[in-house]
Amino acid sequence: MKFYELTPQQRRDFLEQEGYATHNDARLLRLTPLLREYAADGMIENQVGVMGIPIGLLMGLEMNEKTYNVPMATEEPSVIAGACAGAKIARENGGVVSALWPVRVIPADIVFRKVPISKQEAYAKMVLSHKKDMIQVMKEKMPTLTRHNGGIEGVTCHSIHRGEFWKVRMWIWTGEAMGANIANRLSEIEAKYLESLLGIKPLAAILSNAELETVGSGVWIDPATLATGDEDGEQVAQKIVALSRWADLDDTRAVTHNKGIMNGVVACALANGNDTRAVEASAHWFASRSGRYSPLARWEFAERNGKRVLQGKLTMPMPIGRIGFSIKTLGTPELCQRILGAADLWETQEVFAAVGLVQNLAALKSIATEGIVQGHVKLRSYNLARAAGARGDEIDKVADFMIHHPKRTVRQAEIMLSHLRAEKDKEGAPAPEEDGGEEEEKDE
Ligand code: MEV
Repeated sequence: MKFYELTPQQRRDFLEQEGYATHNDARLLRLTPLLREYAADGMIENQVGVMGIPIGLLMGLEMNEKTYNVPMATEEPSVIAGACAGAKIARENGGVVSALWPVRVIPADIVFRKVPISKQEAYAKMVLSHKKDMIQVMKEKMPTLTRHNGGIEGVTCHSIHRGEFWKVRMWIWTGEAMGANIANRLSEIEAKYLESLLGIKPLAAILSNAELETVGSGVWIDPATLATGDEDGEQVAQKIVALSRWADLDDTRAVTHNKGIMNGVVACALANGNDTRAVEASAHWFASRSGRYSPLARWEFAERNGKRVLQGKLTMPMPIGRIGFSIKTLGTPELCQRILGAADLWETQEVFAAVGLVQNLAALKSIATEGIVQGHVKLRSYNLARAAGARGDEIDKVADFMIHHPKRTVRQAEIMLSHLRAEKDKEGAPAPEEDGGEEEEKDE
């Protein structure tokens, strides 16, 4: 049986049997809510409840010659199925290759207002010649950060709009932490120091989500592996290239193209307990850094080892962490990290980018062939069949019925399933009655 054909408990048993999860982790996955009220109350203001988001696994993502089962948290039904479909194509073609450069340092700004151009050079000299003192201040005020070899890696000065603003930018190493809190605390501490050094009062001290580190992922696909029942692979590949070109030329398409990438990346980040808004913000900043909003991934024909291939490349920032307050408190992210099995933060970043790339591939292939709606209807019908309790060959039969039924609800699938089972037991059972109870399926 395929992984998606199993019940949630069978899937957890499989993870345990195959050594992807310990017995305890498999048990933890089943328990809800993992987040106890006292922990939730300690996390946010005015807490009144806890919300559940399903976690699923992208099975068999091959990247840098290693295979991952990637936990993803999402409310959108087609995301994990799309990621699995994209990862399968990538796997058939040798997997994804990912790398990152340069290693992540967080920018944080101490910004001053109305600094005359005539004074900027002297201020910059003063700041840069006191970099050692800034580091000393950091050592005194943030000893834990320094003990973990984190802290200021570089200092630069920048004029904004001819001195309307002038800022001192620190580049901060925060190790495996996402680092926003560290960067903000450190910049507030250094703002006080710079105020006394320069004799001018800063307007603000705050990190920037515009990080320079990017992850690059690439995949090289033999067009033949894209064939569908109706079209040959070359035709599909050509349409994927055309869709990519459309995103290049039309920013209103690029944003949807990127939304599809973020479907995968954000689902990974959420399961990992990360600040998904930072991931989104930096991605969209990066997508528009040329002054025009552009696609994060591109597809074109290329030559590789003497063969014509469809080449997909994605580049984007990935400001996530592997340690931190939310990750620890939520509990589930640490469990997801264990299932993912990445050695460190940097490998995790590479996996998330690879997921973004295969997610994009699946979306473009679907748009280029059967269309997104048809794909979603099919998927939803299969999910409903399984949720209604269909097993084995019942799944296809119930799903096929649901695909053509105007009301796609669990109740309707249950009615169909019971009719199917009754028919099996006794020939000539009455036609299935209609479901009057649940709401009709809404547009998503
Ligand atoms: C839907 O969540 C994402 C897509 O719209 C992405 C795309 O259009 O490339 C399918």
